[in-house]
Amino acid sequence: MAEEVDQFAIRVSELVVGFGRQTVLDHLTLDVRKGEILGLVGASGGGKSVLMRTIIGLIPRRSGRIEVMGAEISEARHVTHTAAGKWGILFQQGALFSSLTVRQNVQFPLREELDLSQALMDEVATAKLEMVGLAPEDGDKFPSQLSGGMTKRVALARALALDPPIVFLDEPTSGLDPIAAGDFDVLIKTLQKTLGLTVFMVTHDLASLNTVCDRVAALAEGKIVAIGSMSELLRSEHPWVKAYFHGKRSQMLQPRKI
Ligand SMILES: Nc1ncnc2c1ncn2[C@@H]1O[C@H](COP(=O)(O)OP(=O)(O)O)[C@@H](O)[C@H]1O
Ligand SMILES: [Mg+2]
Repeated sequence: MAEEVDQFAIRVSELVVGFGRQTVLDHLTLDVRKGEILGLVGASGGGKSVLMRTIIGLIPRRSGRIEVMGAEISEARHVTHTAAGKWGILFQQGALFSSLTVRQNVQFPLREELDLSQALMDEVATAKLEMVGLAPEDGDKFPSQLSGGMTKRVALARALALDPPIVFLDEPTSGLDPIAAGDFDVLIKTLQKTLGLTVFMVTHDLASLNTVCDRVAALAEGKIVAIGSMSELLRSEHPWVKAYFHGKRSQMLQPRKI
């Protein structure tokens, strides 16, 4: 198929999104390459989650074009149905269903989209849990019994349930301690390598940006104002990007740049 020759997993061009009088994304253009981990940084309230939700069709746009794996994304209609298997999502408030066990949470997309026997679903759930570093016994636990890091892993296992080629992660390591965050980073990198996943990740975690992201994009004033490797971003002359990476809070990470 034609999309096989396309090197881009996601293409966004001239995207305009707003609410009432507020314009959040203002002619934003962004390409995500197949198989890369792209990190997205931007001010709080700058529109990172809105961008992600608009790409997957959850938020209507005023104008602009969005393509995912070579197919144009139509607007905010029948999203869950048409999206089956196209992408996995770990939302910022990526809550699991608290009344379902871990295994049932992971099986949720399978139940929605496929007609599998319980035995097969259990097999898939076990495989997905293993993929994210959890034991089969963890499948019997309820969300309230999980640590923050485990919760993120289960949410990731659920996002991967239908073997999507792309995953969207909205601040996956926020709220995790540095060790759990580092472990999650390693997991993402491993999945990218072993599954050939394309990962679109919103993050404020400078360590994640340094260690797992192939490229980093900066969102400011509704646009992508810089995109490239971490070292390229560190050399950006854009005022917001400079303030973000060279501001006081980021000083301690400077020695890690290469
Ligand atoms: N469904 C919505 N309705 C109205 N305003 C929204 C909606 N979703 C987000 N916004 C607004 O859009 C802006 C960008 O939000 P968001 O994308 O969540 O920021 P962040 O970059 O922190 O993820 C904010 O001003 C937010 O209040
Ligand atoms: Mg957000």
